[in-house]
Amino acid sequence: PVLVVDYGAQYAQLIARRVREAHVYSEIVPSSISTEELLAKRPLAVILSGGPSSVYADGTPNPDPQLFESGVPVMGICYGFQAMAVALGGTVEATGQREFGGTSLTVTGQGAVFSGLPERQSVWMSHTDRVSAAPEGFTVTASTDVTPVAAFENVERRMAGVQFHPEVAHTPHGQAVLRHFLYDIAGIEPNWTMSSVIDEQVEAIRAQVGDKRVLCGLSGGVDSSVAAALVHRAVGDQLTCVFVDHGLLRSGEAEQVEKDYVAVTGINLKVVDAQETFLKELSGVVDPESKRKIIGREFIRAFENAAREIDAEGPIEYLVQGTLYPDVVESGGGTGTANIKSHHNVGGLPEDLKFTLVEPLRTLFKDEVRAIGTELGLPESMVWRHPFPGPGLGIRIIGEVTAERLEILRAADAVARAELTAAGLDRSVWQFPVVLLADVRSVGVAGDGRTYGHPIVLRPVSSEDAMTADWSRLPYEVLARISTRITNEVPEVNRVTLDITSKPPGTIEWE
Ligand code: XMP
Repeated sequence: PVLVVDYGAQYAQLIARRVREAHVYSEIVPSSISTEELLAKRPLAVILSGGPSSVYADGTPNPDPQLFESGVPVMGICYGFQAMAVALGGTVEATGQREFGGTSLTVTGQGAVFSGLPERQSVWMSHTDRVSAAPEGFTVTASTDVTPVAAFENVERRMAGVQFHPEVAHTPHGQAVLRHFLYDIAGIEPNWTMSSVIDEQVEAIRAQVGDKRVLCGLSGGVDSSVAAALVHRAVGDQLTCVFVDHGLLRSGEAEQVEKDYVAVTGINLKVVDAQETFLKELSGVVDPESKRKIIGREFIRAFENAAREIDAEGPIEYLVQGTLYPDVVESGGGTGTANIKSHHNVGGLPEDLKFTLVEPLRTLFKDEVRAIGTELGLPESMVWRHPFPGPGLGIRIIGEVTAERLEILRAADAVARAELTAAGLDRSVWQFPVVLLADVRSVGVAGDGRTYGHPIVLRPVSSEDAMTADWSRLPYEVLARISTRITNEVPEVNRVTLDITSKPPGTIEWE
């Protein structure tokens, strides 16, 4: 792999993704890694990321000079560029002058990194210290008004560095800069593709599982669907999937899992129809936390029962989890199974059933998981499905959950989703909860008559990771169509409102 050394900024994951977009496999390693461990991973190249430190501050995680003697190609970015300069005998000075944001860069040399790129270009900067002298043997290839040494390289030693951030979208030629380093300086062949990932994972799963049986919990979400499809491709009928239909899914979603998904993958699917149980347990319950607890408990109960039955037909040894690379990196990176994020409610497993995890998406980012899903032939609506909470519509009905209310919410939600899709906005909106205020009524008029119906709340949000969010500025025409259609097509609803609260202070869901 290409190893991206993480110096603690938010940029390391982005760099890793960009390298992969250049069809070169990359992994993130912490800056605490020793040069020995790093070299043991046999990197094709090492990229030193940006970071918040100053190279001269105490306790700064500077790279080991040995790395530069190892013959491995190295690229430094921002802080990594400065750290590289110091380690190789150049100098870095604190100027006290910040250079931040879009900056005009002048390409000064015949650098391999800037080959074929415009002499003047805009780059994204974020630094205070700067390199004042490049290391001996290195050519300065670019500068800005405040940064005389904005890039340097030594092609013989296969090393280059840039002060700016090539990985961000605000550096229009950034991807070309990375590609030049990877292909022309480091000499790496761009052969990492989604089909090569599928082949590798299929091999790895077969090697791990052998002829043993595997269980998987399907939620209808992207990660579990793709993970199961990959495992199925590897071991076929050794895999059995369980889908608990709790009756709290949106219109068409259960059918999508039960029919479309099975039709495409040929997966062995056990559907547990638990709709009645869930409704019964939720009857009379209004408090959001109680609802969540009941839904979580019943889900595990239903899944456990199914798992036991399947286990009784022949012991199950493995369980598929759709853990993604960001979860792995954020929980300390590296290998091992510590700190696995509980996934789609299938967290609490029966004590007497001990499974080893199969995690075929552990090295992948979300966009790569989607690409694999597409390559495996999964329906687009599944591959691009928005995140959906485990407790489902149960926490989008404010008030008691009943079969009638679920029907109303499903109908309204289906309209909102269809119009969002028709407007081509699915991929620019992170999530679009539709909420039924079931205990609220307001007066309206329809034809010649008075109505006394329920309000619906539209909650479209934009977000990167659901930790923070902003309300999506959907075009008025789209909102108008949704409103007209819902009030026409769902007789119990006579008012449609828009939630314009960011997170914080609001959460994405209402309960
Ligand atoms: P909030 O409402 O806290 O939601 O802003 C953040 C994200 O998490 C989703 N969510 C859940 N996902 N089980 C899940 O799998 C849950 O119990 C759950 N509750 C909220 C929510 O849809 C949003 O994407």
